[in-house]
Amino acid sequence: MTESQEKLDEGRKDLIIGNWKMHHTHLEAIQVIQKLSYRLDLADYERVDVGVAPPFTALRSGQTVIEADRLPIHLGAQDTHFAESGAFTGEISAPMLAKLSVRFVIVGHSERREHFGEDDALVNQKAKAVLAAGMTPVVCVGETLEIRESGDTNEWVTGQVAGAIKGIEDLSKLVFAYEPIWAIGTGRTPSTDDAAGVIDVIRAALGDAGDVVRVLYGGSVNAGNIADFMAKRTIDGALVGGASLDPDSFASIVRYWV
Ligand code: PGA
Repeated sequence: MTESQEKLDEGRKDLIIGNWKMHHTHLEAIQVIQKLSYRLDLADYERVDVGVAPPFTALRSGQTVIEADRLPIHLGAQDTHFAESGAFTGEISAPMLAKLSVRFVIVGHSERREHFGEDDALVNQKAKAVLAAGMTPVVCVGETLEIRESGDTNEWVTGQVAGAIKGIEDLSKLVFAYEPIWAIGTGRTPSTDDAAGVIDVIRAALGDAGDVVRVLYGGSVNAGNIADFMAKRTIDGALVGGASLDPDSFASIVRYWV
């Protein structure tokens, strides 16, 4: 049996998400999604759930092209506010995203934690807001180089998972992404054994839900290394930054087995 088939038997279909960060205007987004769709066929979508997370300003364009062409691409957002509505100038709520056919929302990305002071409690509130609006939270966790070098990665990540899931009863609706901060945008990656080991720690922190929750790897994933990560049974997919901006490169990642 292939690793991929084993994952499927456990109910975990591969999921590969492009996190565009602060890149691409709404016009570029249309082009990128269309080009991506030319390069993928139905067999690809059957094997892998494909997601793109453009900036807020491109979500409406993304929705329009995905719906008009009936593309099986999952639209995602990179963040949300936790409140349904209110006096929060500049913010976007989960119900607003759900109205745009957004299906998943990245929460707790390390760039949000580092540059915008997001802590585990806020990540938890956001994850709850995303679930309440009927979407999937993609919760990011991961250690700094300092934490890794001091040997505390497992404790750190376990703490982040515990903080993120506090008070959430049905954990099966969550997706996690293990993103070592030192691997993001650096071209450096942990070994696949290392990544799989930390992902198993994340599964353990999820208790009974650990077998059913999809856990992705993220950090300098590209067309050259994706297959190695995907060969690990515990790794259900990838959260891809830089290499997802170009549709050719992202399509090669999605079609990692070809
Ligand atoms: P990268 O980013 O692929 O550019 O390293 C990953 C991420 O931040 O999700």
